[in-house]
Amino acid sequence: MKAFDPQICAPPLRVPRLTRPPVVLRPFAGTDLALVRQASADPLIASISSVPRSYTDDAGRAFIERQHRRAVEGDGFSFVIAADGEPQTGLGSIGLWVHEIENGRASVGYWLVDTARGRGLAAHALEAVTTFAFGDLGIPRLHLFVEPWNVASARTALSVGFCHEATLRGWERIDGTQHDCDCFALLRQEWQRGPAA
Ligand SMILES: CC(C)(COP(=O)(O)OP(=O)(O)OC[C@H]1O[C@@H](n2cnc3c(N)ncnc32)[C@H](O)[C@@H]1OP(=O)(O)O)[C@@H](O)C(=O)NCCC(=O)NCCS
Repeated sequence: MKAFDPQICAPPLRVPRLTRPPVVLRPFAGTDLALVRQASADPLIASISSVPRSYTDDAGRAFIERQHRRAVEGDGFSFVIAADGEPQTGLGSIGLWVHEIENGRASVGYWLVDTARGRGLAAHALEAVTTFAFGDLGIPRLHLFVEPWNVASARTALSVGFCHEATLRGWERIDGTQHDCDCFALLRQEWQRGPAA
């Protein structure tokens, strides 16, 4: 296995287009205001992401601009999730965040608008990001944090091969209170060995 070089995540980053049918992942575009508006109306998405809590077109544009800045400044890769047959219509977002890349690890977070849920699309998006992170960037470890009640998210992580590592008590501050989170992780070497390992 090639040695990992954290410099591969040195800014500025370029957000690629990743195809993993039935989804495609692409950078945010100015035309994604409808997606941001729908996400802002969902209190759950607003509580776990930086979408504006009160939507205006200006706030939506600022959110999209922030996603571009995150790549330029080296925070990570913020993707829109869309159906591969209709890539211009955003259904959600998935991010690969590289703040801790000097330690060989990165984190992933995702959401879908409510009309896009129930079809397993997040698992396809997570597979695409996992392949990019391990296969293209060579990152040694990926992890994500899920609140214990969030069965859909936990099953998404497990279906891609992530393992439940720990329940972190009081890990995340959401809406002014500390919440437990389950940590799921996958190592590049496990991913390379495949599901049979
Ligand atoms: C988490 C999220 C991205 C998953 O979206 P999705 O791809 O549509 O997921 P699905 O609804 O298809 O569910 C995935 C799996 O969980 C199962 N599931 C969903 N809700 C469930 C429930 N309440 N109880 C048991 N199983 C459930 C589904 O049956 C499916 O199982 P499968 O893998 O055997 O097919 C989406 O629910 C979401 O955006 N939620 C709000 C934001 C969020 O929570 N983000 C994650 C933060 S960690």
